[in-house]
Amino acid sequence: MNIIQQLDQPISQAMQQAGAPDNAPAVIKPSNRPEFGDYQANGIMGVAKQLKMNPRELATTVVEILEKSGDLAEIVEKIEIAGPGFINIHLSNDWLAQQAKNVLNNKTDQVDKAQQPQTIVVDYSGPNLAKEMHVGHLRSTIIGDAVARVLSFQGHNVIRQNHVGDWGTQFGMLIAHMIDQPDSELGLQLSDLETFYREAKIRFDEDETFAESARNYVVKLQAGDEECLTHWQQFIEISLQHCEDVYSKLNVLLSRADVKPESSYNDELPVVISDLDKAGLLTEDNGAKCVFLEEFKGKDDSILPAIVQKSDGGYLYATTDLAALKYRQHALKASRMLYFVDARQNLHLKQVFSISKKAGFVNEDTSLEHMAFGTMMGNDGKPFKTRVGGTTKLVDLLTEAEQRAFDLVSEKNPTLDVTERKTIANIVGMGAVKYADLSKNRTSDYIFNWDTMLSFEGNTAPYLQYAYARISSIFRKVENYNAQADVIINEPAEHQLALKLLQFSDAIQSVAKDGMPNFLCNYLFELAGNFMTFYEACPILKEGVAVEVKESRLQLAQLTANTLKTGLDLLGIETLERM
Ligand code: ARG
Repeated sequence: MNIIQQLDQPISQAMQQAGAPDNAPAVIKPSNRPEFGDYQANGIMGVAKQLKMNPRELATTVVEILEKSGDLAEIVEKIEIAGPGFINIHLSNDWLAQQAKNVLNNKTDQVDKAQQPQTIVVDYSGPNLAKEMHVGHLRSTIIGDAVARVLSFQGHNVIRQNHVGDWGTQFGMLIAHMIDQPDSELGLQLSDLETFYREAKIRFDEDETFAESARNYVVKLQAGDEECLTHWQQFIEISLQHCEDVYSKLNVLLSRADVKPESSYNDELPVVISDLDKAGLLTEDNGAKCVFLEEFKGKDDSILPAIVQKSDGGYLYATTDLAALKYRQHALKASRMLYFVDARQNLHLKQVFSISKKAGFVNEDTSLEHMAFGTMMGNDGKPFKTRVGGTTKLVDLLTEAEQRAFDLVSEKNPTLDVTERKTIANIVGMGAVKYADLSKNRTSDYIFNWDTMLSFEGNTAPYLQYAYARISSIFRKVENYNAQADVIINEPAEHQLALKLLQFSDAIQSVAKDGMPNFLCNYLFELAGNFMTFYEACPILKEGVAVEVKESRLQLAQLTANTLKTGLDLLGIETLERM
């Protein structure tokens, strides 16, 4: 159900009949003021300028043609010329009512399916397994998850790739530290990876013998030594379980099957180097193997190299990413790859994207997109830290969110039993943290603020969850709901709500195209606002409301609830029937 598409074709045709060139766009946009109608066609101005015509005259001709052809007769109530040559389009109440009904009856998809489903790799989360996930991993994990859900919903073949870091030099240090622990204590110690890592690091920095043995373990590990591998696997297994706890708390869909760790590319790394060599892309620089590309220049105009093999033979982050790009193209057959990775890795990704195309690892027409995001800041405007100034374990932040939500729920609903309050607290707390992030434009930094995110007013998850619960409460009061009833639209608030409901597809399409969940958040926020206005202006269960009016309004309420639920679900946020 895409209204713009339905308007576009007849209007473009009329423009051509009025003398516009074949590909002249109608440029149809939703109007931002109801008095100007529901949509505006803005393309006439540009065409008129090109043809040296008076735009208002051209607009008049276009409108006359449209009226004569009757092509839009069913869809529009009124078309009028406005300003220097826009066309304002007022949609017909009956048409909107019919479309809403078709969606409710599953005769029309509310959200259009992808016309050409693609295989899309979504690279997100990707924590380093040497430590526990910290707040810096939140954004990639939840933004990537929301976009992956949206793409699957459109019918694409989505392949999630959790590119976890499990193969760096840090693992030598961790193995050395593991080996020195009594067996009986190891399990407990690994239940707090943060502390375990810190202890290992202190030893590494202060004790030369330990550092030496750590370095030996890296070499042994990479050479496939059995004992080393066993320790390493034990560590990785526990670390992944920590990640999975976080994913499940956060309602993120990543599973074990989506983990494609750095180590899995190990055997491919020498092949990457020889392929690059064959492609004539390798240069030796102080013993290191590098790729120099003209397009990447530093401040002083010198080319910034991408190092792919160190002088000691070791491979780098970039080498692994090149191997991953090859794999995603040739084994997974992706035609689009999205990387939800911190903006600070922009140069790295630009380099590997460009190299992978030049080396033929990735097809020319495969779309490689860095979906960059900014940093989560504390109230002081600096990167988010704990009260004592350390990096926050993600799990601690999430637990705090649940606790705060629990207090809030207990305040509002002291009589609810504790288990129920806990369930609500998880859904509201996680919703609040996720939505606060997803609703911001991902490219900018944002300030993490408990009070605003947990507020029941404004553009927050609790507000939307509450709007959903409120509609559910209406339905609990309805005795016999007639799902067969017609939708009838008379009031402006009904018109506005139906229109918004039919614009869901546009919001979804924008998220899919630009990887920006904030478009969907804004949409849901506006939808909830439209519903509140409708609910005030158009009583449903009040005495004296005619049966057919009540039944029609219930249908609109039902479709609103469905849309809020689906929309929040696509953001990875759950809803509640009561809260
Ligand atoms: N492990 C990396 C980090 O923590 C993120 C991985 C992102 N994905 C990738 N293909 N490079 O910074």
